[in-house]
Amino acid sequence: MSLPDLGPFSPDTLCHGDALDLLPRLPSQSIDLLVTDPPFAIDFQAQRLNYHRTGSNVLEGYREIPAGDYADFTTRWIEEAFRVLSPAGSLYVFSGWNRLKEVLCSLDDSGFTTINHLIWKYQFGVFTRKKYVTSHYHILFAVKDPRHYTFNKVDHYPEDVWVINREYWKGRKKTPTKLPYQLVERILSFSSNQGDMVLDPFLGSGTVAMVSRDMGRHFLGFEVVDEYYSFALERLQKGMRNPQHGKGTPSGEKKHAEGEN
Ligand SMILES: C[S@@+](CC[C@H](N)C(=O)[O-])C[C@H]1O[C@@H](n2cnc3c(N)ncnc32)[C@H](O)[C@@H]1O
Repeated sequence: MSLPDLGPFSPDTLCHGDALDLLPRLPSQSIDLLVTDPPFAIDFQAQRLNYHRTGSNVLEGYREIPAGDYADFTTRWIEEAFRVLSPAGSLYVFSGWNRLKEVLCSLDDSGFTTINHLIWKYQFGVFTRKKYVTSHYHILFAVKDPRHYTFNKVDHYPEDVWVINREYWKGRKKTPTKLPYQLVERILSFSSNQGDMVLDPFLGSGTVAMVSRDMGRHFLGFEVVDEYYSFALERLQKGMRNPQHGKGTPSGEKKHAEGEN
Protein backbone atom coordinates (compact mmCIF):
# COMPACT_ATOMS: atom_id res chain seq x y z
CA MET A 1 0.00 0.00 0.00
CA SER A 2 1.45 3.39 -0.95
CA LEU A 3 1.79 6.07 1.69
CA PRO A 4 -0.18 9.30 1.34
CA ASP A 5 1.67 12.49 0.44
CA LEU A 6 2.26 14.36 3.71
CA GLY A 7 3.69 17.48 2.05
CA PRO A 8 6.68 18.74 4.07
CA PHE A 9 6.30 15.98 6.68
CA SER A 10 7.70 12.47 6.63
CA PRO A 11 5.68 9.50 7.75
CA ASP A 12 6.53 8.02 11.17
CA THR A 13 8.06 11.19 12.58
CA LEU A 14 7.39 13.67 15.37
CA CYS A 15 7.59 17.43 14.72
CA HIS A 16 8.39 20.15 17.17
CA GLY A 17 6.05 23.09 16.59
CA ASP A 18 2.65 24.68 17.01
CA ALA A 19 -0.17 22.55 15.65
CA LEU A 20 -1.98 25.66 14.44
CA ASP A 21 0.98 26.43 12.18
CA LEU A 22 1.75 22.85 11.16
CA LEU A 23 -1.74 21.50 10.44
CA PRO A 24 -2.35 23.92 7.51
CA ARG A 25 0.81 22.54 5.86
CA LEU A 26 -0.57 19.00 5.71
CA PRO A 27 -2.20 18.07 2.38
CA SER A 28 -5.97 17.59 2.42
CA GLN A 29 -7.29 14.05 2.98
CA SER A 30 -3.87 12.66 3.94
CA ILE A 31 -4.79 11.24 7.37
CA ASP A 32 -6.96 8.18 8.14
CA LEU A 33 -7.38 8.63 11.89
CA LEU A 34 -6.77 11.59 14.17
CA VAL A 35 -6.59 10.79 17.90
CA THR A 36 -5.84 13.64 20.26
CA ASP A 37 -6.05 14.92 23.78
CA PRO A 38 -5.76 18.70 23.23
CA PRO A 39 -4.74 21.21 25.92
CA PHE A 40 -7.48 22.32 28.29
CA ALA A 41 -8.47 25.87 29.12
CA ILE A 42 -8.66 25.43 32.86
CA ASP A 43 -6.07 26.63 35.25
CA PHE A 44 -4.32 23.29 35.02
CA GLN A 45 -0.78 23.39 36.18
CA ALA A 46 1.65 20.57 35.92
CA GLN A 47 2.22 20.96 39.60
CA ARG A 48 4.97 18.76 40.78
CA LEU A 49 3.30 17.39 43.85
CA ASN A 50 -0.31 17.55 42.79
CA TYR A 51 -0.55 13.92 41.87
CA HIS A 52 1.53 12.62 44.74
CA ARG A 53 4.51 12.24 42.47
CA THR A 54 8.15 12.76 43.02
CA GLY A 55 8.54 16.30 41.75
CA SER A 56 11.81 15.86 39.90
CA ASN A 57 10.29 13.16 37.68
CA VAL A 58 7.41 15.30 36.41
CA LEU A 59 8.18 17.29 33.26
CA GLU A 60 7.03 20.88 33.42
CA GLY A 61 6.15 23.37 30.72
CA TYR A 62 2.76 22.05 29.70
CA ARG A 63 1.25 24.58 27.25
CA GLU A 64 -2.20 25.74 28.32
CA ILE A 65 -4.70 27.85 26.34
CA PRO A 66 -6.21 30.97 27.98
CA ALA A 67 -9.91 30.36 28.70
CA GLY A 68 -11.05 33.28 26.53
CA ASP A 69 -9.23 31.88 23.49
CA TYR A 70 -10.41 28.31 23.82
CA ALA A 71 -13.42 28.44 21.45
CA ASP A 72 -11.34 30.03 18.69
CA PHE A 73 -8.41 27.67 19.28
CA THR A 74 -10.73 24.63 19.20
CA THR A 75 -12.50 25.75 16.04
CA ARG A 76 -9.21 26.39 14.27
CA TRP A 77 -7.71 22.96 14.87
CA ILE A 78 -10.97 21.03 14.38
CA GLU A 79 -11.57 22.72 11.00
CA GLU A 80 -8.07 21.67 9.99
CA ALA A 81 -8.73 18.15 11.28
CA PHE A 82 -11.75 17.90 9.00
CA ARG A 83 -9.71 19.05 6.02
CA VAL A 84 -6.76 16.68 6.54
CA LEU A 85 -8.87 13.56 7.17
CA SER A 86 -9.53 11.19 4.30
CA PRO A 87 -13.19 10.85 3.18
CA ALA A 88 -13.59 7.76 5.42
CA GLY A 89 -11.50 9.29 8.21
CA SER A 90 -12.34 9.49 11.91
CA LEU A 91 -11.48 11.76 14.80
CA TYR A 92 -11.28 10.88 18.50
CA VAL A 93 -10.99 13.93 20.70
CA PHE A 94 -10.61 13.89 24.49
CA SER A 95 -12.25 16.58 26.59
CA GLY A 96 -12.89 17.33 30.23
CA TRP A 97 -16.50 18.23 31.05
CA ASN A 98 -15.70 21.91 31.66
CA ARG A 99 -14.76 22.72 28.04
CA LEU A 100 -16.93 20.11 26.36
CA LYS A 101 -19.38 22.57 24.83
CA GLU A 102 -16.68 24.29 22.77
CA VAL A 103 -15.55 20.92 21.38
CA LEU A 104 -19.10 19.76 20.57
CA CYS A 105 -19.95 23.06 18.84
CA SER A 106 -16.75 23.04 16.79
CA LEU A 107 -17.35 19.45 15.68
CA ASP A 108 -20.84 20.35 14.45
CA ASP A 109 -19.76 23.61 12.83
CA SER A 110 -16.83 21.98 11.04
CA GLY A 111 -18.96 19.34 9.33
CA PHE A 112 -18.20 16.32 11.50
CA THR A 113 -20.88 13.82 12.51
CA THR A 114 -20.47 12.68 16.10
CA ILE A 115 -21.02 8.93 16.21
CA ASN A 116 -20.41 8.21 19.90
CA HIS A 117 -19.83 10.07 23.08
CA LEU A 118 -17.59 7.74 25.07
CA ILE A 119 -16.78 8.05 28.75
CA TRP A 120 -13.36 7.07 30.03
CA LYS A 121 -13.52 6.33 33.76
CA TYR A 122 -10.13 6.46 35.50
CA GLN A 123 -8.75 6.37 39.02
CA PHE A 124 -6.69 9.12 40.70
CA GLY A 125 -9.31 11.91 40.55
CA VAL A 126 -8.13 15.02 42.39
CA PHE A 127 -9.42 15.13 46.02
CA THR A 128 -12.27 17.62 46.67
CA ARG A 129 -13.97 19.00 49.79
CA LYS A 130 -17.20 20.51 48.49
CA LYS A 131 -17.87 18.82 45.19
CA TYR A 132 -17.70 15.41 43.55
CA VAL A 133 -14.35 14.07 42.46
CA THR A 134 -14.02 14.18 38.68
CA SER A 135 -12.87 10.75 37.57
CA HIS A 136 -13.92 10.63 33.93
CA TYR A 137 -13.14 12.14 30.57
CA HIS A 138 -15.27 12.51 27.49
CA ILE A 139 -14.03 11.00 24.22
CA LEU A 140 -15.93 12.16 21.15
CA PHE A 141 -15.83 9.81 18.20
CA ALA A 142 -16.65 11.80 15.06
CA VAL A 143 -16.46 11.03 11.34
CA LYS A 144 -16.54 12.92 8.05
CA ASP A 145 -19.03 10.59 6.40
CA PRO A 146 -21.47 8.68 8.66
CA ARG A 147 -22.16 6.18 5.83
CA HIS A 148 -18.53 5.28 5.29
CA TYR A 149 -15.93 4.96 8.05
CA THR A 150 -13.73 2.26 9.61
CA PHE A 151 -15.27 0.41 12.52
CA ASN A 152 -13.83 -3.01 13.32
CA LYS A 153 -16.12 -4.97 15.64
CA VAL A 154 -13.31 -5.92 18.01
CA ASP A 155 -15.89 -6.70 20.73
CA HIS A 156 -19.31 -8.15 20.06
CA TYR A 157 -20.99 -5.65 22.42
CA PRO A 158 -18.74 -2.59 22.68
CA GLU A 159 -20.17 -0.31 25.34
CA ASP A 160 -19.48 3.41 25.48
CA VAL A 161 -18.12 3.55 29.04
CA TRP A 162 -14.52 2.40 29.32
CA VAL A 163 -12.99 1.76 32.72
CA ILE A 164 -9.23 1.96 32.23
CA ASN A 165 -6.73 2.91 34.92
CA ARG A 166 -4.20 5.64 34.49
CA GLU A 167 -0.69 4.26 34.39
CA TYR A 168 1.68 4.34 37.28
CA TRP A 169 5.22 5.21 36.14
CA LYS A 170 7.17 4.69 39.31
CA GLY A 171 10.50 6.51 39.42
CA ARG A 172 10.44 7.48 35.75
CA LYS A 173 10.19 10.76 33.96
CA LYS A 174 6.55 11.43 33.19
CA THR A 175 4.25 14.08 31.75
CA PRO A 176 1.22 15.14 33.76
CA THR A 177 -1.51 14.09 31.35
CA LYS A 178 -0.31 10.88 29.76
CA LEU A 179 -3.01 8.65 28.26
CA PRO A 180 -2.94 4.95 29.12
CA TYR A 181 -1.47 2.79 26.39
CA GLN A 182 -4.42 0.40 26.63
CA LEU A 183 -6.92 3.19 25.97
CA VAL A 184 -5.22 4.32 22.76
CA GLU A 185 -4.78 0.68 21.71
CA ARG A 186 -8.53 0.17 22.00
CA ILE A 187 -9.28 3.23 19.85
CA LEU A 188 -6.84 2.13 17.15
CA SER A 189 -8.22 -1.43 17.16
CA PHE A 190 -11.75 -0.23 16.44
CA SER A 191 -11.03 2.67 14.11
CA SER A 192 -7.93 1.87 12.05
CA ASN A 193 -6.26 -0.86 10.05
CA GLN A 194 -2.66 -1.89 9.43
CA GLY A 195 -0.87 0.70 7.31
CA ASP A 196 -3.29 3.56 8.12
CA MET A 197 -1.88 7.03 8.82
CA VAL A 198 -2.59 8.24 12.37
CA LEU A 199 -2.07 11.86 13.47
CA ASP A 200 -1.89 13.39 16.94
CA PRO A 201 -1.36 17.18 16.71
CA PHE A 202 -1.06 17.56 20.53
CA LEU A 203 1.34 14.77 21.26
CA GLY A 204 2.42 15.27 24.88
CA SER A 205 4.44 12.21 25.82
CA GLY A 206 3.71 10.58 22.47
CA THR A 207 1.36 7.76 23.48
CA VAL A 208 -0.59 7.88 20.21
CA ALA A 209 2.60 7.66 18.12
CA MET A 210 3.95 4.84 20.27
CA VAL A 211 0.81 2.71 20.05
CA SER A 212 0.45 3.40 16.32
CA ARG A 213 3.95 2.15 15.65
CA ASP A 214 3.46 -0.94 17.83
CA MET A 215 0.24 -1.77 15.98
CA GLY A 216 1.68 -1.42 12.47
CA ARG A 217 0.05 1.94 11.72
CA HIS A 218 1.96 4.94 10.34
CA PHE A 219 2.03 8.04 12.48
CA LEU A 220 2.76 11.74 12.59
CA GLY A 221 2.80 13.88 15.72
CA PHE A 222 3.17 17.57 16.67
CA GLU A 223 4.18 19.00 20.04
CA VAL A 224 4.97 22.62 20.86
CA VAL A 225 6.80 22.22 24.18
CA ASP A 226 10.44 21.29 23.72
CA GLU A 227 10.67 19.06 26.81
CA TYR A 228 7.62 17.04 25.87
CA TYR A 229 8.75 16.71 22.28
CA SER A 230 12.15 15.40 23.43
CA PHE A 231 10.51 13.04 25.90
CA ALA A 232 8.17 11.64 23.22
CA LEU A 233 11.13 11.10 20.88
CA GLU A 234 13.12 9.35 23.59
CA ARG A 235 10.12 7.23 24.49
CA LEU A 236 9.73 6.09 20.89
CA GLN A 237 13.44 5.40 20.47
CA LYS A 238 13.67 3.38 23.67
CA GLY A 239 10.28 1.70 23.28
CA MET A 240 9.21 2.90 26.74
CA ARG A 241 5.69 1.56 26.73
CA ASN A 242 4.54 1.29 30.31
CA PRO A 243 6.68 -0.37 32.94
CA GLN A 244 3.66 -1.40 35.01
CA HIS A 245 1.62 -2.82 32.11
CA GLY A 246 -0.90 -5.36 33.36
CA LYS A 247 0.01 -4.92 37.00
CA GLY A 248 -2.74 -2.45 38.03
CA THR A 249 -2.28 -0.06 40.94
CA PRO A 250 0.55 -1.07 43.23
CA SER A 251 -0.45 -1.61 46.85
CA GLY A 252 0.17 1.42 49.02
CA GLU A 253 -0.51 3.82 46.13
CA LYS A 254 -3.19 6.35 47.07
CA LYS A 255 -6.43 6.10 45.12
CA HIS A 256 -6.70 9.87 44.88
CA ALA A 257 -4.39 12.80 44.42
CA GLU A 258 -3.19 14.95 47.26
CA GLY A 259 -4.27 18.25 45.73
CA GLU A 260 -7.67 19.82 46.10
CA ASN A 261 -9.90 20.81 43.23
C1 LIG B 1 -3.26 16.88 27.20
S1 LIG B 1 -1.64 16.89 26.57
C2 LIG B 1 -1.51 15.45 25.56
C3 LIG B 1 -1.11 14.23 26.34
C4 LIG B 1 -0.88 13.03 25.47
N1 LIG B 1 -2.12 12.49 24.95
C5 LIG B 1 -0.09 11.93 26.19
O1 LIG B 1 -0.50 10.77 26.22
O2 LIG B 1 0.96 12.26 26.78
C6 LIG B 1 -1.71 18.21 25.40
C7 LIG B 1 -0.38 18.55 24.78
O3 LIG B 1 -0.56 19.55 23.79
C8 LIG B 1 0.55 20.41 23.80
N2 LIG B 1 0.18 21.65 23.12
C9 LIG B 1 -0.51 22.71 23.61
N3 LIG B 1 -0.72 23.63 22.64
C10 LIG B 1 -0.15 23.13 21.50
C11 LIG B 1 -0.04 23.60 20.16
N4 LIG B 1 -0.58 24.77 19.79
N5 LIG B 1 0.58 22.82 19.26
C12 LIG B 1 1.11 21.61 19.61
N6 LIG B 1 1.06 21.13 20.87
C13 LIG B 1 0.43 21.86 21.80
C14 LIG B 1 0.86 20.56 25.30
O4 LIG B 1 2.19 21.02 25.52
C15 LIG B 1 0.63 19.13 25.79
O5 LIG B 1 1.81 18.38 25.75
